[in-house]
Amino acid sequence: MNLAAVVANPEGTFPRALPPRATRASRVARERLLGVVPEIEWRLLAPYVEEIRRLARERRAVILAHNYQTPEIFHGVADYVGDSLGLARQAAASGAEVIVQCGVHFMAETSKILCPHKTVLIPDLEAGCSLAASITAADVRLLRERYPGAPVVTYVNTSAEVKAESDVCCTSANAIEVVESLGAPRVIFLPDEFLGRYVAARTAVELVLWHGHCEVHERFTGGQLRELRASHPGVYVLAHPECPPEVLAEADYVGSTAGMIGAVSKSGASRVVMITECSMSDNVAAAHPEIEFVRPCNLCPHMKRITLPGILRSLQTMTHEVVVDPGVAARARRAVERMLAVAGGAGR
Ligand code: 13P
Ligand code: SF4
Repeated sequence: MNLAAVVANPEGTFPRALPPRATRASRVARERLLGVVPEIEWRLLAPYVEEIRRLARERRAVILAHNYQTPEIFHGVADYVGDSLGLARQAAASGAEVIVQCGVHFMAETSKILCPHKTVLIPDLEAGCSLAASITAADVRLLRERYPGAPVVTYVNTSAEVKAESDVCCTSANAIEVVESLGAPRVIFLPDEFLGRYVAARTAVELVLWHGHCEVHERFTGGQLRELRASHPGVYVLAHPECPPEVLAEADYVGSTAGMIGAVSKSGASRVVMITECSMSDNVAAAHPEIEFVRPCNLCPHMKRITLPGILRSLQTMTHEVVVDPGVAARARRAVERMLAVAGGAGR
């Protein structure tokens, strides 16, 4: 819970008193957050949930939230939640005039690329990503020169300019299918080295990799997982493919954030650990009170820049609008749409 941000509320823009009657939106949110958010905390959150949902209706806005958003956003105000692939699909399918992207900047750019005529808002423009920051469009052009004829697959965790230099995008949910869909013996796969190594071990296609890493997932270690297994017998281990190979080797399931959520339900396990960003476990635990979640916590500081006060301000002021140069967007759209045409799977 990002309670500090709610209490501090630097802009002072929210209705401080609880509305006299809870609306359906806040009653549904309260039910989902029972057991996760204590009553006293809920009394601070409820006015935001009410006002955000009211303004979203008024602005004809859809709120898309990534699985790493905090529970009050994920369960409280989002119209759609999901992994990067799911959110891109929702953006493409949305009939709303405005998209409020509760996630990081590359996700909002992907929505803008797919929906050039919609207004795409992100509550905090500084919500970046270490993977997206690891590579530039000039780097991609140099790699093409060095490996002539090799097609370029880029993870969606990249800027619009990098996507525009690519043949096709992928997410962690469909990376293997996308690489194999090209029918090429060698593919340049950018920028996540660990996801690339995971894919390379599962395909005959030769991959040329980059040295990008996720600052959240690279911190997990194989030793940490072995200790967790020893101290929590029978624990079912799920890991995101942005983790180092020694971590993935210890996991029972590897897949995208949405893949991991689906696998928790299917596992039948009574004790689970999700080796990924902290808020995932909070969100999934709210829906599975019968499961014990072991929670080693690595926070994504970029995802955590998105807060209820920030979302409210975004809707009140229609900021911050995400802008992508139309020429860049047109080239990037080809790569993203080509990905959406490839069937996406999820993990092992
Ligand atoms: P997913 O596409 O699996 O949701 O991952 C996005 C991300 O940023 C993981 O760190
Ligand atoms: Fe980027 Fe890692 Fe944060 Fe995902 S968790 S947005 S890959 S820094």
